[in-house]
Amino acid sequence: MTRQSTHAIHPQFLDRSSPRAFSGKALTAKDIETIVEGARWAPSASNKQPWHFAYAINGDANWQAFSTIPNEFNRRWCLNAGALLVVLSNKAESAMHSFDTGCAWGYLALQAHAMGLATHAMAGIELAAAREVLQLGEQWQVECLVAIGERGDKSSLPADLAERETPSPRKPLSEILSAGPLA
Ligand SMILES: Cc1cc2nc3c(=O)[nH]c(=O)nc-3n(C[C@H](O)[C@H](O)[C@H](O)COP(=O)(O)O)c2cc1C
Repeated sequence: MTRQSTHAIHPQFLDRSSPRAFSGKALTAKDIETIVEGARWAPSASNKQPWHFAYAINGDANWQAFSTIPNEFNRRWCLNAGALLVVLSNKAESAMHSFDTGCAWGYLALQAHAMGLATHAMAGIELAAAREVLQLGEQWQVECLVAIGERGDKSSLPADLAERETPSPRKPLSEILSAGPLA
């Protein structure tokens, strides 16, 4: 399925999608640094940049510990990613910590896409494991876990997940946009 927009937009918005099939190829620290460089330039309230990203590359010294962070469903597919990255926001830094960090994640996803890599965010995580593995202080809110890597073949997935490996649609513009008050 090819995604169609109602109006002409930059193709990156339609071409980016969140696969579950990854090749298993480990990323490099430079890949991750370049991807997070994209996030670094996101706008934030008072330029507080209330975000932090913690990662493990597939097979490195932290990989096994990071593998305990996804929940059971996500563990079925995300351990084939090239890296796992936890997106954190700092509650003590800004009242807009979550909103701003959401924007930074969007930039991160688009930078990875521009590099020919895929991202897949996950809210389905074991929160206690994340806090333990990353030794998080009170000020840190765990926003999500992100699988990043080279796309794989959907035949590598369990059948039920392979079936869902298709770009998702969107609500119509008329449902999310109002000229003036909501009707
Ligand atoms: C914050 C967030 C949490 C998500 N959590 C999960 C998850 O736990 N498991 C999963 O398979 N997909 C998860 N997704 C992926 C979404 O389902 C996906 O982004 C959405 O269906 C739109 O598809 P697209 O990203 O391919 O355009 C999450 C996405 C976001 C942004």
